[in-house]
Amino acid sequence: MNKTKAVIPGSFDPITYGHLDIIERSADRFDEIHVCVLKNSSKGGTFNIEERMDLIRGSVAHLSNVEVHHFNGLLVDFCKQVGAKTIVRGLRAVSDFEYELRLTSMNKKLNNNIETMYMMTSTNYSFISSSIVKEVAAYKADISEFVPPNVAEALKEKYYK
Ligand code: PNS
Repeated sequence: MNKTKAVIPGSFDPITYGHLDIIERSADRFDEIHVCVLKNSSKGGTFNIEERMDLIRGSVAHLSNVEVHHFNGLLVDFCKQVGAKTIVRGLRAVSDFEYELRLTSMNKKLNNNIETMYMMTSTNYSFISSSIVKEVAAYKADISEFVPPNVAEALKEKYYK
């Protein structure tokens, strides 16, 4: 029988509990989850690609059906490479909608066989983003509520010194 596969793409700079919520819930519903770090041309980088992947790997170690990748190209081409027909994205608030609509419409134009499914981020995490966590970390605030312990350590290393 064919395995159900989903790709969870993002910048993950760094992964937060909001991302992890979507990954865990997807891992419960698909046979294979491929988390992929891709380039968002409108964002800079705080952590390099290897660091981001290490932080994701450390955060998903309890999920046996999750693999972590990076890809230097179009998301739809990565989906083809791993044989996935579904992209999963988290939706936090109405403010995410327009951006997500543009992303999904473009991906659909690029490859009509790939569907994007949206999952509402759990309400506890609906206000968390990598950038807002980095913003408060820069002021040495406690960020342990928002990111997994390995990520909190990495943020402390970067910002608290
Ligand atoms: O976490 P983000 O920054 O919202 O994720 C956006 C990301 C990285 C998934 C998106 O920018 C992306 O897919 N980049 C790869 C290039 C691509 O395929 N672009 C076409 C879709 S707009």
